[in-house]
Amino acid sequence: MYAAAIDQGTTSSRCIVFDHDGNIISVAQREHRQIFPRPGWVEHDAAEIWAAVQGVLAEAVDGLEIAALGITNQRETAVLWDRRTGEPVCPAIVWQDTRTDELIAGMDGEIFRERAGLPLTTYFSGPKVRWMLDRGLRERAERGEILFGTVDSWLIWKLTGRHVTDVTNASRTLMMNIHTLAWDDELLAALGVPRAILPEIRPSSEVYGHFRGIPVAAALGDQQAALFGQTCFEPGETKSTYGSGSFLLMNTGAKPVVSRHGLLTTVGYQLGDGPATYALEGAIAVTGSLVQWLRDNLGLISSAAEIETLAKTVDDNGGCYFVPAFSGLFAPHWRGDARGVIAGLTAFVNKGHLARAVLEATAFQTREVVEAMNADAGLALTSLRVDGGMTADNLLMQTLADVLDVPVIRPVVAETTALGAAYAAGLATGYWDGLATLRANWHKAAEWRPGIDPGRREREYRDWNKAVARTLDWVE
Ligand code: G3P
Repeated sequence: MYAAAIDQGTTSSRCIVFDHDGNIISVAQREHRQIFPRPGWVEHDAAEIWAAVQGVLAEAVDGLEIAALGITNQRETAVLWDRRTGEPVCPAIVWQDTRTDELIAGMDGEIFRERAGLPLTTYFSGPKVRWMLDRGLRERAERGEILFGTVDSWLIWKLTGRHVTDVTNASRTLMMNIHTLAWDDELLAALGVPRAILPEIRPSSEVYGHFRGIPVAAALGDQQAALFGQTCFEPGETKSTYGSGSFLLMNTGAKPVVSRHGLLTTVGYQLGDGPATYALEGAIAVTGSLVQWLRDNLGLISSAAEIETLAKTVDDNGGCYFVPAFSGLFAPHWRGDARGVIAGLTAFVNKGHLARAVLEATAFQTREVVEAMNADAGLALTSLRVDGGMTADNLLMQTLADVLDVPVIRPVVAETTALGAAYAAGLATGYWDGLATLRANWHKAAEWRPGIDPGRREREYRDWNKAVARTLDWVE
Protein backbone atom coordinates (compact mmCIF):
# COMPACT_ATOMS: atom_id res chain seq x y z
CA MET A 1 0.00 0.00 0.00
CA TYR A 2 1.11 3.55 -0.79
CA ALA A 3 0.07 7.17 -0.22
CA ALA A 4 -0.29 9.57 -3.16
CA ALA A 5 -0.54 13.31 -3.68
CA ILE A 6 -1.76 15.51 -6.49
CA ASP A 7 0.40 18.63 -6.63
CA GLN A 8 -1.49 21.12 -8.78
CA GLY A 9 1.05 23.95 -9.23
CA THR A 10 1.15 27.21 -11.16
CA THR A 11 2.79 25.77 -14.26
CA SER A 12 2.11 22.03 -14.04
CA SER A 13 0.13 19.28 -12.34
CA ARG A 14 1.89 16.31 -10.85
CA CYS A 15 0.95 13.15 -9.07
CA ILE A 16 3.54 11.50 -6.85
CA VAL A 17 3.20 8.16 -5.05
CA PHE A 18 5.20 7.57 -1.84
CA ASP A 19 5.94 4.49 0.24
CA HIS A 20 5.77 4.32 4.01
CA ASP A 21 9.34 5.66 4.41
CA GLY A 22 8.52 8.70 2.26
CA ASN A 23 10.43 7.44 -0.79
CA ILE A 24 9.10 8.31 -4.24
CA ILE A 25 7.60 5.31 -6.07
CA SER A 26 6.21 6.99 -9.17
CA VAL A 27 5.74 10.46 -10.66
CA ALA A 28 3.67 11.82 -13.54
CA GLN A 29 3.60 15.45 -14.69
CA ARG A 30 1.73 17.61 -17.22
CA GLU A 31 2.02 21.31 -17.96
CA HIS A 32 -0.93 23.58 -18.66
CA ARG A 33 -1.15 26.88 -20.53
CA GLN A 34 -0.27 30.23 -18.98
CA ILE A 35 -2.63 32.76 -20.51
CA PHE A 36 -1.52 36.43 -20.50
CA PRO A 37 -4.38 38.42 -22.12
CA ARG A 38 -2.93 41.82 -21.10
CA PRO A 39 0.07 43.14 -19.16
CA GLY A 40 -0.37 42.13 -15.51
CA TRP A 41 -3.13 39.59 -16.25
CA VAL A 42 -2.53 35.85 -15.76
CA GLU A 43 -5.23 33.23 -16.37
CA HIS A 44 -5.60 29.43 -16.31
CA ASP A 45 -8.29 27.22 -17.80
CA ALA A 46 -9.64 25.20 -14.86
CA ALA A 47 -11.05 22.55 -17.23
CA GLU A 48 -7.58 22.07 -18.73
CA ILE A 49 -6.16 21.74 -15.22
CA TRP A 50 -8.74 19.10 -14.33
CA ALA A 51 -7.92 17.14 -17.49
CA ALA A 52 -4.21 17.29 -16.61
CA VAL A 53 -4.90 16.15 -13.04
CA GLN A 54 -6.95 13.19 -14.24
CA GLY A 55 -4.13 12.27 -16.62
CA VAL A 56 -1.31 12.38 -14.06
CA LEU A 57 -3.39 10.61 -11.45
CA ALA A 58 -4.17 7.71 -13.78
CA GLU A 59 -0.55 7.50 -14.90
CA ALA A 60 1.10 7.65 -11.47
CA VAL A 61 -1.18 5.29 -9.56
CA ASP A 62 -1.52 2.75 -12.39
CA GLY A 63 -1.41 -0.74 -10.86
CA LEU A 64 -0.65 0.54 -7.33
CA GLU A 65 -2.80 0.17 -4.25
CA ILE A 66 -3.36 3.64 -2.77
CA ALA A 67 -4.33 4.00 0.90
CA ALA A 68 -4.84 7.76 0.82
CA LEU A 69 -4.78 10.62 -1.68
CA GLY A 70 -3.87 14.17 -0.67
CA ILE A 71 -4.21 17.37 -2.67
CA THR A 72 -1.85 20.30 -2.64
CA ASN A 73 -2.21 23.27 -4.89
CA GLN A 74 -1.19 26.68 -6.14
CA ARG A 75 -2.98 28.96 -3.71
CA GLU A 76 -5.17 32.10 -4.14
CA THR A 77 -6.02 31.30 -7.78
CA ALA A 78 -9.79 31.77 -8.05
CA VAL A 79 -12.11 29.42 -9.96
CA LEU A 80 -15.85 29.95 -10.54
CA TRP A 81 -17.92 27.08 -11.90
CA ASP A 82 -21.52 26.15 -12.66
CA ARG A 83 -23.01 24.05 -9.86
CA ARG A 84 -25.16 22.05 -12.31
CA THR A 85 -22.76 21.36 -15.18
CA GLY A 86 -19.53 21.42 -13.16
CA GLU A 87 -17.92 23.54 -15.90
CA PRO A 88 -15.93 26.76 -15.26
CA VAL A 89 -17.96 29.89 -16.07
CA CYS A 90 -14.92 32.07 -16.85
CA PRO A 91 -11.12 31.82 -16.90
CA ALA A 92 -9.49 31.22 -13.51
CA ILE A 93 -7.63 34.31 -12.30
CA VAL A 94 -4.14 33.29 -11.15
CA TRP A 95 -2.46 34.45 -7.92
CA GLN A 96 0.12 36.46 -9.92
CA ASP A 97 -2.57 38.54 -11.66
CA THR A 98 -2.65 42.26 -10.75
CA ARG A 99 -5.89 43.31 -12.51
CA THR A 100 -7.61 44.09 -9.19
CA ASP A 101 -5.10 46.83 -8.33
CA GLU A 102 -7.56 49.68 -8.99
CA LEU A 103 -10.46 47.83 -7.36
CA ILE A 104 -8.66 47.49 -4.02
CA ALA A 105 -7.16 50.98 -4.15
CA GLY A 106 -10.59 52.31 -3.17
CA MET A 107 -11.04 49.94 -0.21
CA ASP A 108 -9.92 50.22 3.43
CA GLY A 109 -7.35 47.52 4.17
CA GLU A 110 -7.41 47.72 7.96
CA ILE A 111 -10.25 45.26 8.58
CA PHE A 112 -8.53 42.67 6.36
CA ARG A 113 -5.28 42.96 8.25
CA GLU A 114 -7.06 42.57 11.58
CA ARG A 115 -9.43 39.77 10.70
CA ALA A 116 -7.80 37.90 7.81
CA GLY A 117 -4.19 38.51 8.93
CA LEU A 118 -3.39 39.67 5.41
CA PRO A 119 -2.68 42.95 3.63
CA LEU A 120 -5.32 43.92 1.07
CA THR A 121 -3.44 43.19 -2.15
CA THR A 122 -4.07 41.80 -5.62
CA TYR A 123 -2.44 38.48 -4.60
CA PHE A 124 -5.37 36.98 -2.68
CA SER A 125 -8.59 35.43 -4.01
CA GLY A 126 -11.31 37.74 -2.64
CA PRO A 127 -10.74 40.72 -4.96
CA LYS A 128 -10.41 38.34 -7.92
CA VAL A 129 -13.83 36.83 -7.13
CA ARG A 130 -15.34 40.30 -6.86
CA TRP A 131 -13.85 41.24 -10.22
CA MET A 132 -15.37 38.16 -11.89
CA LEU A 133 -18.80 38.62 -10.27
CA ASP A 134 -18.88 42.26 -11.37
CA ARG A 135 -18.67 41.11 -14.98
CA GLY A 136 -22.14 39.69 -15.40
CA LEU A 137 -22.08 36.77 -12.95
CA ARG A 138 -23.41 38.34 -9.75
CA GLU A 139 -27.09 37.47 -10.15
CA ARG A 140 -26.40 33.85 -10.95
CA ALA A 141 -24.02 33.69 -7.98
CA GLU A 142 -26.66 35.11 -5.63
CA ARG A 143 -29.17 32.52 -6.89
CA GLY A 144 -26.66 29.82 -5.86
CA GLU A 145 -26.00 28.68 -9.44
CA ILE A 146 -22.27 29.44 -9.33
CA LEU A 147 -19.67 28.07 -6.94
CA PHE A 148 -16.30 29.53 -5.99
CA GLY A 149 -13.22 27.61 -4.97
CA THR A 150 -9.47 27.81 -4.88
CA VAL A 151 -7.85 24.98 -6.83
CA ASP A 152 -8.06 22.46 -3.93
CA SER A 153 -11.79 23.07 -3.78
CA TRP A 154 -12.22 22.76 -7.56
CA LEU A 155 -10.38 19.42 -7.57
CA ILE A 156 -12.19 18.00 -4.51
CA TRP A 157 -15.50 18.92 -6.18
CA LYS A 158 -14.44 17.10 -9.34
CA LEU A 159 -13.06 14.09 -7.42
CA THR A 160 -15.76 13.64 -4.77
CA GLY A 161 -18.71 15.92 -5.62
CA ARG A 162 -18.36 17.84 -2.33
CA HIS A 163 -17.97 21.62 -2.18
CA VAL A 164 -15.34 22.02 0.53
CA THR A 165 -11.98 23.73 0.99
CA ASP A 166 -9.30 23.27 3.60
CA VAL A 167 -8.47 25.86 6.21
CA THR A 168 -5.00 26.65 4.81
CA ASN A 169 -6.41 27.52 1.40
CA ALA A 170 -9.29 29.45 2.97
CA SER A 171 -6.72 31.50 4.89
CA ARG A 172 -5.52 32.91 1.53
CA THR A 173 -8.83 34.34 0.35
CA LEU A 174 -9.15 37.52 2.51
CA MET A 175 -12.61 36.15 3.36
CA MET A 176 -11.79 33.87 6.31
CA ASN A 177 -11.36 35.19 9.83
CA ILE A 178 -7.91 33.97 10.89
CA HIS A 179 -8.95 33.79 14.56
CA THR A 180 -12.26 31.90 14.23
CA LEU A 181 -11.35 29.97 11.04
CA ALA A 182 -14.82 30.74 9.62
CA TRP A 183 -15.99 32.92 6.70
CA ASP A 184 -16.41 36.46 8.03
CA ASP A 185 -19.59 38.36 7.06
CA GLU A 186 -17.96 41.78 7.36
CA LEU A 187 -15.07 40.77 5.13
CA LEU A 188 -17.54 39.31 2.62
CA ALA A 189 -19.58 42.52 2.69
CA ALA A 190 -16.47 44.66 2.21
CA LEU A 191 -15.50 42.56 -0.81
CA GLY A 192 -19.04 42.18 -2.16
CA VAL A 193 -18.93 38.37 -2.29
CA PRO A 194 -22.14 36.42 -1.52
CA ARG A 195 -21.86 33.60 1.03
CA ALA A 196 -23.85 31.29 -1.28
CA ILE A 197 -20.84 30.64 -3.52
CA LEU A 198 -18.38 29.67 -0.79
CA PRO A 199 -17.26 26.13 0.05
CA GLU A 200 -17.42 24.67 3.54
CA ILE A 201 -14.13 25.11 5.43
CA ARG A 202 -12.73 21.78 6.67
CA PRO A 203 -9.51 20.66 8.40
CA SER A 204 -6.47 19.93 6.19
CA SER A 205 -6.43 16.24 7.10
CA GLU A 206 -9.68 14.28 7.05
CA VAL A 207 -11.51 12.05 4.56
CA TYR A 208 -13.50 14.43 2.31
CA GLY A 209 -14.85 11.64 0.07
CA HIS A 210 -13.68 8.97 -2.35
CA PHE A 211 -12.47 8.85 -5.94
CA ARG A 212 -12.76 5.39 -7.52
CA GLY A 213 -12.53 3.85 -4.05
CA ILE A 214 -9.47 5.90 -2.96
CA PRO A 215 -10.00 8.12 0.11
CA VAL A 216 -9.39 11.79 -0.76
CA ALA A 217 -8.08 12.63 2.67
CA ALA A 218 -6.11 15.90 2.73
CA ALA A 219 -5.81 19.33 1.19
CA LEU A 220 -3.12 21.89 1.93
CA GLY A 221 -1.97 24.98 0.06
CA ASP A 222 1.33 24.04 -1.56
CA GLN A 223 3.49 26.13 0.77
CA GLN A 224 1.79 24.79 3.86
CA ALA A 225 2.20 21.28 2.46
CA ALA A 226 5.93 21.90 2.07
CA LEU A 227 6.10 23.07 5.70
CA PHE A 228 4.39 19.81 6.68
CA GLY A 229 6.55 17.70 4.36
CA GLN A 230 9.68 19.28 5.87
CA THR A 231 8.23 18.13 9.24
CA CYS A 232 8.34 21.68 10.65
CA PHE A 233 5.94 20.71 13.43
CA GLU A 234 7.46 22.83 16.23
CA PRO A 235 7.18 26.61 16.67
CA GLY A 236 10.22 28.33 15.16
CA GLU A 237 10.86 25.63 12.52
CA THR A 238 11.15 27.22 9.09
CA LYS A 239 11.36 26.20 5.45
CA SER A 240 11.69 27.98 2.14
CA THR A 241 10.37 26.52 -1.13
CA TYR A 242 11.84 27.56 -4.47
CA GLY A 243 9.34 27.19 -7.32
CA SER A 244 7.91 29.77 -9.75
CA GLY A 245 7.76 32.01 -6.69
CA SER A 246 9.39 31.39 -3.31
CA PHE A 247 7.71 31.11 0.03
CA LEU A 248 9.35 31.07 3.44
CA LEU A 249 7.12 29.83 6.26
CA MET A 250 7.80 29.64 9.98
CA ASN A 251 5.63 27.52 12.27
CA THR A 252 4.34 29.86 15.01
CA GLY A 253 2.28 27.33 16.99
CA ALA A 254 -1.32 27.50 18.16
CA LYS A 255 -1.83 31.29 18.01
CA PRO A 256 -1.82 33.59 14.99
CA VAL A 257 1.11 36.04 15.16
CA VAL A 258 0.45 39.41 13.57
CA SER A 259 3.42 40.63 11.54
CA ARG A 260 4.76 44.15 11.92
CA HIS A 261 7.23 43.73 9.10
CA GLY A 262 5.25 42.85 6.00
CA LEU A 263 4.75 39.10 6.49
CA LEU A 264 1.48 37.19 6.24
CA THR A 265 -0.36 35.45 9.05
CA THR A 266 -1.58 32.16 7.69
CA VAL A 267 -2.80 28.73 8.77
CA GLY A 268 -0.05 26.10 8.60
CA TYR A 269 -2.26 23.03 8.95
CA GLN A 270 -5.11 21.54 10.94
CA LEU A 271 -5.23 17.79 11.53
CA GLY A 272 -8.77 16.45 12.00
CA ASP A 273 -10.59 18.10 14.90
CA GLY A 274 -7.31 19.24 16.48
CA PRO A 275 -6.35 22.91 16.89
CA ALA A 276 -4.94 24.80 13.94
CA THR A 277 -1.20 25.41 13.74
CA TYR A 278 -0.35 28.84 12.41
CA ALA A 279 2.58 30.17 10.40
CA LEU A 280 4.18 33.43 9.40
CA GLU A 281 4.94 33.64 5.70
CA GLY A 282 7.18 35.68 3.48
CA ALA A 283 5.82 35.33 -0.07
CA ILE A 284 8.02 36.25 -3.04
CA ALA A 285 6.14 36.34 -6.35
CA VAL A 286 8.93 35.82 -8.87
CA THR A 287 11.99 33.58 -8.54
CA GLY A 288 11.90 30.45 -10.75
CA SER A 289 9.53 32.20 -13.14
CA LEU A 290 12.29 34.79 -13.75
CA VAL A 291 14.50 31.95 -15.04
CA GLN A 292 11.62 30.85 -17.29
CA TRP A 293 11.23 34.44 -18.48
CA LEU A 294 14.91 34.55 -19.41
CA ARG A 295 14.35 31.34 -21.38
CA ASP A 296 10.96 32.07 -22.99
CA ASN A 297 10.87 35.85 -23.41
CA LEU A 298 14.56 36.66 -23.99
CA GLY A 299 15.83 33.32 -25.32
CA LEU A 300 19.11 33.74 -23.38
CA ILE A 301 19.04 30.09 -22.27
CA SER A 302 17.29 27.10 -23.81
CA SER A 303 16.52 25.25 -20.56
CA ALA A 304 16.08 26.41 -16.98
CA ALA A 305 19.03 24.26 -15.88
CA GLU A 306 21.33 26.23 -18.23
CA ILE A 307 21.14 29.32 -16.03
CA GLU A 308 23.74 27.80 -13.69
CA THR A 309 26.19 27.10 -16.52
CA LEU A 310 25.76 30.62 -17.91
CA ALA A 311 26.13 32.24 -14.48
CA LYS A 312 29.35 30.29 -13.88
CA THR A 313 31.01 31.91 -16.90
CA VAL A 314 31.60 34.98 -14.67
CA ASP A 315 32.74 35.46 -11.06
CA ASP A 316 30.20 38.03 -9.97
CA ASN A 317 27.26 40.12 -11.17
CA GLY A 318 29.46 42.79 -12.79
CA GLY A 319 27.54 45.47 -10.85
CA CYS A 320 24.17 44.46 -12.28
CA TYR A 321 20.98 43.85 -10.23
CA PHE A 322 17.69 42.45 -11.50
CA VAL A 323 14.55 43.11 -9.42
CA PRO A 324 11.73 41.03 -10.99
CA ALA A 325 8.71 43.03 -9.81
CA PHE A 326 6.55 41.43 -12.54
CA SER A 327 3.50 41.14 -10.26
CA GLY A 328 4.43 44.21 -8.27
CA LEU A 329 6.49 43.35 -5.19
CA PHE A 330 5.21 40.94 -2.54
CA ALA A 331 6.75 40.54 0.93
CA PRO A 332 7.85 42.62 2.67
CA HIS A 333 6.90 45.56 0.38
CA TRP A 334 3.37 44.72 -0.86
CA ARG A 335 3.45 47.21 -3.71
CA GLY A 336 1.21 46.13 -6.57
CA ASP A 337 2.36 49.15 -8.59
CA ALA A 338 6.08 48.27 -8.53
CA ARG A 339 7.58 47.31 -11.89
CA GLY A 340 10.76 45.34 -12.62
CA VAL A 341 14.16 46.89 -13.23
CA ILE A 342 17.63 45.85 -14.31
CA ALA A 343 19.94 48.34 -12.60
CA GLY A 344 23.66 49.07 -12.67
CA LEU A 345 24.19 48.37 -16.38
CA THR A 346 27.46 49.30 -18.06
CA ALA A 347 28.94 48.11 -21.35
CA PHE A 348 30.96 45.62 -19.27
CA VAL A 349 27.84 43.58 -18.38
CA ASN A 350 27.32 40.42 -20.46
CA LYS A 351 24.75 37.63 -20.41
CA GLY A 352 26.73 35.73 -17.76
CA HIS A 353 26.40 38.69 -15.39
CA LEU A 354 22.71 38.89 -16.19
CA ALA A 355 22.30 35.17 -15.40
CA ARG A 356 24.06 35.71 -12.10
CA ALA A 357 21.84 38.70 -11.31
CA VAL A 358 18.81 36.51 -12.02
CA LEU A 359 19.97 33.87 -9.51
CA GLU A 360 20.99 36.50 -6.97
CA ALA A 361 17.51 38.05 -7.18
CA THR A 362 16.18 34.90 -5.52
CA ALA A 363 18.79 35.09 -2.76
CA PHE A 364 18.36 38.82 -2.09
CA GLN A 365 14.58 38.55 -2.01
CA THR A 366 14.94 35.69 0.48
CA ARG A 367 17.17 37.87 2.62
CA GLU A 368 14.53 40.63 2.70
CA VAL A 369 11.99 38.09 3.95
CA VAL A 370 14.40 36.53 6.48
CA GLU A 371 15.16 39.97 7.92
CA ALA A 372 11.41 40.61 8.33
CA MET A 373 10.97 37.17 9.92
CA ASN A 374 13.86 37.77 12.35
CA ALA A 375 12.40 41.14 13.31
CA ASP A 376 8.91 39.67 13.87
CA ALA A 377 10.19 36.65 15.81
CA GLY A 378 12.72 38.68 17.81
CA LEU A 379 15.46 36.12 17.10
CA ALA A 380 17.71 35.29 14.19
CA LEU A 381 17.28 32.31 11.90
CA THR A 382 20.23 29.94 12.36
CA SER A 383 19.75 27.67 9.34
CA LEU A 384 17.26 27.32 6.49
CA ARG A 385 15.59 24.14 5.21
CA VAL A 386 14.96 24.43 1.48
CA ASP A 387 13.06 22.46 -1.15
CA GLY A 388 11.51 22.83 -4.59
CA GLY A 389 12.78 22.62 -8.17
CA MET A 390 15.33 25.46 -7.96
CA THR A 391 17.24 23.73 -5.15
CA ALA A 392 18.83 21.49 -7.82
CA ASP A 393 20.91 24.57 -8.74
CA ASN A 394 24.06 24.32 -6.59
CA LEU A 395 25.28 27.80 -7.46
CA LEU A 396 21.96 29.26 -6.32
CA MET A 397 22.08 27.30 -3.06
CA GLN A 398 25.65 28.50 -2.38
CA THR A 399 24.62 32.08 -3.22
CA LEU A 400 21.70 31.75 -0.83
CA ALA A 401 23.98 30.63 2.03
CA ASP A 402 26.39 33.50 1.20
CA VAL A 403 23.69 36.18 1.06
CA LEU A 404 21.82 34.95 4.17
CA ASP A 405 24.95 34.10 6.16
CA VAL A 406 23.37 30.88 7.48
CA PRO A 407 23.72 27.22 6.38
CA VAL A 408 21.18 26.11 3.78
CA ILE A 409 19.97 22.49 4.12
CA ARG A 410 18.17 20.29 1.58
CA PRO A 411 16.47 17.01 2.57
CA VAL A 412 16.76 13.74 0.63
CA VAL A 413 13.18 14.05 -0.65
CA ALA A 414 13.10 17.55 -2.18
CA GLU A 415 9.46 16.96 -3.29
CA THR A 416 8.29 18.08 0.11
CA THR A 417 5.12 19.75 -1.20
CA ALA A 418 3.65 16.49 -2.50
CA LEU A 419 5.12 14.59 0.44
CA GLY A 420 3.38 16.91 2.92
CA ALA A 421 0.00 16.37 1.26
CA ALA A 422 0.55 12.60 1.16
CA TYR A 423 1.54 12.68 4.85
CA ALA A 424 -1.60 14.61 5.83
CA ALA A 425 -3.79 12.20 3.83
CA GLY A 426 -2.03 9.13 5.23
CA LEU A 427 -2.47 10.42 8.79
CA ALA A 428 -6.23 10.75 8.20
CA THR A 429 -6.58 7.14 7.05
CA GLY A 430 -4.10 5.58 9.51
CA TYR A 431 -1.43 4.81 6.88
CA TRP A 432 0.97 6.75 9.14
CA ASP A 433 0.43 6.65 12.90
CA GLY A 434 1.66 10.09 13.97
CA LEU A 435 4.02 13.02 13.56
CA ALA A 436 7.00 11.23 15.17
CA THR A 437 6.97 8.61 12.39
CA LEU A 438 6.97 11.36 9.76
CA ARG A 439 9.82 13.18 11.46
CA ALA A 440 11.90 9.99 11.43
CA ASN A 441 11.54 9.96 7.62
CA TRP A 442 13.32 13.34 7.25
CA HIS A 443 17.01 13.03 6.26
CA LYS A 444 19.54 15.69 5.26
CA ALA A 445 20.94 15.29 1.75
CA ALA A 446 23.09 18.40 1.31
CA GLU A 447 24.26 21.50 3.17
CA TRP A 448 25.80 24.73 1.85
CA ARG A 449 27.77 26.95 4.25
CA PRO A 450 28.31 30.71 3.91
CA GLY A 451 31.66 31.46 2.29
CA ILE A 452 31.94 35.08 1.14
CA ASP A 453 33.63 38.07 2.67
CA PRO A 454 31.17 39.94 4.97
CA GLY A 455 32.13 43.30 3.44
CA ARG A 456 31.14 42.10 -0.03
CA ARG A 457 27.92 40.57 1.33
CA GLU A 458 26.75 43.83 2.85
CA ARG A 459 27.89 46.01 -0.05
CA GLU A 460 25.97 43.91 -2.56
CA TYR A 461 22.86 43.84 -0.39
CA ARG A 462 22.98 47.66 -0.15
CA ASP A 463 23.17 47.84 -3.95
CA TRP A 464 20.26 45.42 -4.23
CA ASN A 465 18.21 47.71 -2.00
CA LYS A 466 19.01 50.68 -4.21
CA ALA A 467 17.70 48.70 -7.20
CA VAL A 468 14.53 47.80 -5.25
CA ALA A 469 13.94 51.50 -4.58
CA ARG A 470 13.94 52.08 -8.36
CA THR A 471 11.02 49.63 -8.80
CA LEU A 472 8.92 51.50 -6.25
CA ASP A 473 9.18 54.94 -7.80
CA TRP A 474 8.33 53.71 -11.29
CA VAL A 475 4.64 54.64 -11.16
CA GLU A 476 3.92 58.25 -10.16
O1 G3P B 1 0.85 31.43 -3.37
C1 G3P B 1 1.18 30.93 -4.61
C2 G3P B 1 1.82 29.58 -4.49
O2 G3P B 1 0.96 28.71 -3.84
C3 G3P B 1 2.27 29.08 -5.86
O3 G3P B 1 3.16 28.05 -5.73
O4 G3P B 1 4.77 26.38 -6.49
O5 G3P B 1 2.73 26.79 -7.84
O6 G3P B 1 4.52 28.49 -7.78
P1 G3P B 1 3.84 27.38 -7.05
